[in-house]
Amino acid sequence: MPMPKEENVFGDIFGGWVMAHVDLAGGLEAMRHSRGRVATVAVNAFQFHQPISSGDLVSFYAEVVNLGRTSMTVAVQVFAERHPSNPVFVKVTEATLTYVALDADGNKRDVPRENA
Ligand SMILES: CC(C)(COP(=O)(O)OP(=O)(O)OC[C@H]1O[C@@H](n2cnc3c(N)ncnc32)[C@H](O)[C@@H]1OP(=O)(O)O)[C@@H](O)C(=O)NCCC(=O)NCCS
Repeated sequence: MPMPKEENVFGDIFGGWVMAHVDLAGGLEAMRHSRGRVATVAVNAFQFHQPISSGDLVSFYAEVVNLGRTSMTVAVQVFAERHPSNPVFVKVTEATLTYVALDADGNKRDVPRENA
């Protein structure tokens, strides 16, 4: 739940807050899928459909949508639940990012295929 300190000067939640949390959600899914360290290599697409306000309950849903040799493309959808007295659940953002699986030394490694 973003707080007022995350607001921009217009009273909406700063896009950078959303982007950071999308990267966290996508990276966690890539880590889980590849069972180890990953790095973000590309942000392929990012669309903000509606603003987020402080007090919205924001949920991030991440899914691996394409698997390469060392890379994973992850789609992240973001939903906000607003107005606790009369809740509505709206998609606010969607994004696609690519992560590369790394070994402990920071070198590329193959993504395990048994998770494919
Ligand atoms: C991630 C990193 C190790 C990749 O090394 P690299 O030698 O450039 O690797 P490659 O060019 O062979 O690409 C590795 C994989 O990423 C994919 N990839 C690279 N650039 C990409 C891009 N712009 N978009 C989509 N996929 C990309 C390649 O297709 C390849 O996938 P595959 O193995 O599944 O076929 C290196 O680029 C790096 O360290 N980048 C910085 C990462 C980082 O610090 N992220 C946080 C930023 S704050």
